[in-house]
Amino acid sequence: MLTTLIDFETAASKQLPDDIRAYLNGGAEAERSVAENRAAFGRIGLLPKLLADCGHGHTRTTILGVEAAHPVMVAPMAFQRLFDPQGETATAMAAAAQEAVMVLSCQTSVLPEDIADIPGRRWIQLYMQADHDATMSLVTRAASCGASALVVTLDAPINGLRDREVAAGFAVDGDVRPVMLDALPHPPRPQLEAGQSVVFDGMMVFAPKWPDLERLIADSPLPVIVKGCLRAQDAVRLMGIGVAGIIVSNHGGRVLDTTPAPITRLADIVKAAEGAVPVFVDGGIRRGSDVFKALALGAEAVLVGRPIMHGLAVDGARGASQVLRRLRDELAVTMALCGCATVADITSDLLTEFT
Ligand code: FNR
Repeated sequence: MLTTLIDFETAASKQLPDDIRAYLNGGAEAERSVAENRAAFGRIGLLPKLLADCGHGHTRTTILGVEAAHPVMVAPMAFQRLFDPQGETATAMAAAAQEAVMVLSCQTSVLPEDIADIPGRRWIQLYMQADHDATMSLVTRAASCGASALVVTLDAPINGLRDREVAAGFAVDGDVRPVMLDALPHPPRPQLEAGQSVVFDGMMVFAPKWPDLERLIADSPLPVIVKGCLRAQDAVRLMGIGVAGIIVSNHGGRVLDTTPAPITRLADIVKAAEGAVPVFVDGGIRRGSDVFKALALGAEAVLVGRPIMHGLAVDGARGASQVLRRLRDELAVTMALCGCATVADITSDLLTEFT
């Protein structure tokens, strides 16, 4: 029987083809950040309070000012039909069953219109396009499909170097593709002259910069949350231009290797935010106790990535739902054992070093 998220990871990894497994589980270069994201939670210990009254406790909270059953969200992940024929449709059903906020990637392999009728709270993630109007067309379309917030990912202006994927020959082709982006214009690629750099004179010329984000925030009908912040100074500047929330993330270690585990950067960024905007975190969360630790360090909620896809690969919507259910249950047990009846009771004095 599959119980823990690790069980689902093992089962999914056995059944997925090599290239898709490399895409899902892998990360940038030597994958030190992938490993560190998980290891960092192991260095945080729990110091439970005794004899607290936890009768009638619960995991309810608010996420971006709206009530939520619990603080576990589904991270944006591209191309989910690689893992299950129903892809994002199945994930949306699982999220609805487990009352989890789902962030739909703009690289979704199912049209947002096709999941608009599935109940549940959804946000849309996007990468800013080189053309502002193209970005706005994605925002308008997502809003009309029911997305209530925009997650703008800032930590991947270009793709990272994913050695494991390359070695396994992973490529997105054929049937599974980023269908929401089909409608966007494809501007001609710039012709590079001899001696020019593909990175700096090619791709980075079109990468978003501060004024682009300011313009998006000004024009967006949805609150804009940014994803991929690891520096307190960036957090301060982002708040200054009006972001509605910050996700502390290193993209699951998939973009730039040896970036620190987001959980180790969370407290600094929460401090910099001074309660002005909610702070979220993702990366390496595999246990309810990891969720608890993130909340104790000041996160409003957490996002979970790969484990949801492991559940999806093993048993479609039911598998993804089981993964979310397990995290909810583990969080409740950790809270009860630490003497916390509500998430508001989860404070940093319940943590200690663990070596
Ligand atoms: C991702 N992630 C991601 N992030 C994003 O902003 N847009 C995207 O399209 C994707 N796509 C994507 C695909 C796959 C297969 C994975 C595993 C991840 C990153 C994701 O949102 C999140 O930051 C990490 O997955 C969190 O780490 P864990 O929970 O996977 O350890």
